[in-house]
Amino acid sequence: MTQGEPIRKAVIPAAGLGTRFLPATKAMPKEMLPVVDQPAIQYVVEEAVGAGLSDVLMITGRSKRALEDHFDRSPDLETALGLKGDDTRLDAVRHASELGPIHYVRQGEPKGLGHAVLCARRHVGDEPFAVLLGDDLIDGRDQLLSTMIDVQRKTGGSVIALIEVDDSQISAYGCADITPIAGEDYVRVNSLVEKPSVEEAPSNLAIIGRYVLHPAVFDVLEETAPGRGGEIQLTDALQTLAKGEGEGTGVYGVVFRGRRYDTGDKLSYLKAVITLASERAEFGEDLKTWMKEFLG
Ligand code: UTP
Repeated sequence: MTQGEPIRKAVIPAAGLGTRFLPATKAMPKEMLPVVDQPAIQYVVEEAVGAGLSDVLMITGRSKRALEDHFDRSPDLETALGLKGDDTRLDAVRHASELGPIHYVRQGEPKGLGHAVLCARRHVGDEPFAVLLGDDLIDGRDQLLSTMIDVQRKTGGSVIALIEVDDSQISAYGCADITPIAGEDYVRVNSLVEKPSVEEAPSNLAIIGRYVLHPAVFDVLEETAPGRGGEIQLTDALQTLAKGEGEGTGVYGVVFRGRRYDTGDKLSYLKAVITLASERAEFGEDLKTWMKEFLG
């Protein structure tokens, strides 16, 4: 792929065990948990498509059926809604199947996010690609992905998304040691540490679930040994690329200050649902009134 060609491919890993949400995730992926009225993963696919990524590959695990069904046509349901004249719901149902071609690859065993990304190798080939995690919902209007894509085109390396967090929170994230680049709105990433203690953390910049990666990451992932938790960690592969030299090396960071909703654990998920629900035209105001009453 030449430097000028647009990035088209998005990889969405959805094969994790989702243990933090058990038992809800016993028989369905956590990416299918509803956020107001659509599964979290639909927001993520919409964000990818909105950023011009027309080729979406999902990495699925044990319970891929619900994911595939959600993004497929549903003739019986569509006929029933059509007969009732319920066009609003019919449009909502069809919309999910009209987001574009979605491809699926199975990760046989959940050996970690790095391993899940490696499962995309054959589909992605030799071109830069985006990775979006369903744990993080990013408001597409805040243009994070398109900024990251521009930075990848400019630098030829790999790009991660960072947010500033309180010191007390850094141990829940991967953390980046960075150097600002004069005159640029992105930073150079010198090294990465997965879930450091406050003392070990080189900054308060935490990695969130958006990446635009150079395909050189695949060779590195092939060689990456299991790390934290016995899993093949994407962060470890990025650390190798940050330290490496030559084509496809170099890691850069975009510090995101826009709207982000974490759905990775129960409390954050509930906050995300309430925030997004309170913004809905059809019931947001009623919900806020009720919440005031509820809180006394
Ligand atoms: P997490 O570590 O947050 O997800 O992985 P998890 O393992 O499903 O969740 P918990 O910690 O047990 O609750 C981040 C993303 O990577 C995917 C997950 O589906 C999630 O979107 N993932 C993780 C895979 O696709 N495969 C894996 O082997 C691990």
